[in-house]
Amino acid sequence: MRPPPTPLKTGETSGSPEGERKMRGSGRTGTCGLTADCSPRSSVSNSLDQQELADNYSILRQLGSGTYGRVVLARCHRTGVEVALKVLPKASTKLKDFLREFNLSYYLSPHSAIINTYDVAFETLTSYVFAQEQAPLGDLFEAITPQSGLTESAAKAALAQVASALEFMHSKGLVHRDVKPENILVFDDACERVKLMDFGMTKKTGTMVRKVSTGIPYTPPEVCSALKGEQYAVDTAADVWGFAVLIFCALTGNFPWELAHQSDTFYGEFSAWQRRKALRMPSQWKMFTSRLMRLFRRMLEPRPERRCSIKELCKYTDDAWLLPRKDSPSTEDTPPRRVDPHDDLDSLLRKHGIETEVSPHWRERRISEWILAM
Ligand SMILES: Nc1ncnc2c1ncn2[C@@H]1O[C@H](COP(=O)(O)OP(=O)(O)O)[C@@H](O)[C@H]1O
Ligand SMILES: [Mg+2]
Repeated sequence: MRPPPTPLKTGETSGSPEGERKMRGSGRTGTCGLTADCSPRSSVSNSLDQQELADNYSILRQLGSGTYGRVVLARCHRTGVEVALKVLPKASTKLKDFLREFNLSYYLSPHSAIINTYDVAFETLTSYVFAQEQAPLGDLFEAITPQSGLTESAAKAALAQVASALEFMHSKGLVHRDVKPENILVFDDACERVKLMDFGMTKKTGTMVRKVSTGIPYTPPEVCSALKGEQYAVDTAADVWGFAVLIFCALTGNFPWELAHQSDTFYGEFSAWQRRKALRMPSQWKMFTSRLMRLFRRMLEPRPERRCSIKELCKYTDDAWLLPRKDSPSTEDTPPRRVDPHDDLDSLLRKHGIETEVSPHWRERRISEWILAM
């Protein structure tokens, strides 16, 4: 089997799909349908107090940094409470854009799979700052073992919550536009509590934006193929695409491609299989069950108007996603080997690595996968 195309390296951070931000201004979540039982907060602020960080907070350590800001763990002098402060330099951030991100984060906070943003925002001489709850285990990127991924159960738990958060956003007419593991925070080892964050790229559905940069592995093909400077309308379908790439990354610890563009060999191979122009599924997808491949087909539909909605995930969470690994068969899955020293043909074939018997369990599984894939 060919090595996976693009390893996710620990510590590597992908840039955002668009360079437009360079001046940019609890408990376990159920799988879907959380939109009904939580309402967003109203937005809070249009102006900021001037403060000095050191007057009000002790900075304990840096929690992370992204393309646009850094996040530090800080203890509030007055309350003793530890918070995560997102610090955005004024030199590269417009006040209007800072307030947008802060107000959106605060507005979306009531959802249990969205980071809780506090009603605390201020400016220092050099930066704009707002406060959020701290995630003890950092982001999902750090949790994914490179070239191996999460366990299937941890991946499913995390992805169901992220889907629920996106469904909530989409129901409010908002598109996240930067779905990737670096923007998902982890609260426990089993990923039973994860939260979506970083609403710096979030826009209302239908907003016209200009393409500024080439893109990252999560960028949908309709954006990858747009020319630099070209305008396009923001659509929830972009989050669905990014989410499908996230599924791949979470289960494998690799990217499926560098860019969803025909110039990328790995994307080209997938797209040929997707359009049924090639019968052979590219090797890096062969570890997935046909049920999961069916979901991939729907979420990675190149035409955004035909792409399924994020809710589609709900139909697949009870299915197996990974095929059993060849090197670790369980007793139940092991095909019975017939040992018959008199069967010359059988032993000859076996000597050359050709299995002559298929267990009924395996045969039934293949047949049902084949039927489900139709
Ligand atoms: N509340 C938090 N708790 C723990 N780590 C955080 C928190 N917020 C952000 N981080 C870390 O900081 C990184 C950058 O934060 P983010 O808000 O995504 O900045 P940017 O907008 O620059 O991408 C995240 O990828 C994550 O590793
Ligand atoms: Mg980020």
